[in-house]
Amino acid sequence: MEIIRTVAELKAKLDDARARGSVGLVPTMGALHAGHLSLIERARKENDTVVVSVFVNPTQFNNPTDLATYPRTEEADAALLEGAGVDYAFIPSVDEVYPEPDTRVFDLGPVAEVMEGAMRPGHFNGVAQVVSKLFRFTEPTRAYFGEKDFQQIAVIRKMAEIEGFKNLEIVDCPIKREADGLALSSRNVRLSAEQRSVAPAIAMTLRASLIKARDMSLAETKQWVIDTINRYPFMQVEYYEIVDALTMQPIAEWSDSERPVGCITVFCGDVRLIDNIKYSL
Ligand code: PAF
Repeated sequence: MEIIRTVAELKAKLDDARARGSVGLVPTMGALHAGHLSLIERARKENDTVVVSVFVNPTQFNNPTDLATYPRTEEADAALLEGAGVDYAFIPSVDEVYPEPDTRVFDLGPVAEVMEGAMRPGHFNGVAQVVSKLFRFTEPTRAYFGEKDFQQIAVIRKMAEIEGFKNLEIVDCPIKREADGLALSSRNVRLSAEQRSVAPAIAMTLRASLIKARDMSLAETKQWVIDTINRYPFMQVEYYEIVDALTMQPIAEWSDSERPVGCITVFCGDVRLIDNIKYSL
């Protein structure tokens, strides 16, 4: 595996790789875990060359403390990437990605206005900025994203449509979970031992709501999820929305969507955890 730090070198290497076959891109912010490794494994199976970017993108953090405390574990990340059979690890500096401030404002529309878009102003614009740059630097055949950030995938698809990335397949990959159900996240390391022991209640409650939903209205199911999780120590639901999987718009009745997805954000102490579940009624 080669570690590449400049855009010029990355482009040169990938021009050669593209001439030989397909290129799979896995964008990450580092602090890699088994969730990232599952994306890389899939990219490895489906492409001739695999490039993983490791870049904590400052423009997508609307909270300076979150940016400052985001885990940075470059050495461990590089070792994991090497072990996963990655060809190129792209680990640029902030100045390399943003030689000048990125002032682009993307018109991402309704998919970016609800949930994370409403709670974290500017977050999705920052994601669109960095992912559009990564797509331009790498010109991948396929790019891989985890469904834990369910809304992010819809936003990236919208950005790709706006920017005309037509010959690129965006591949969504299922959430990876710990044995007790907690969705893998780089933020999990910030949970205290006591918080870590209650955090699986999020996934457990979402799963139990699949059964409740058979007899409850959508509004009742939503409220049941919120109340159940809030009863646990440390836990405070920020939002729970049941949305259509394509439009990301909240629905009022189960019959309003063929693919309802429940998207949740919970503060466990001061650690913000997200998860989601697909209902099939
Ligand atoms: O999901 C993430 O880790 C980030 O939002 C991404 C897609 C790598 C962009 O910085």
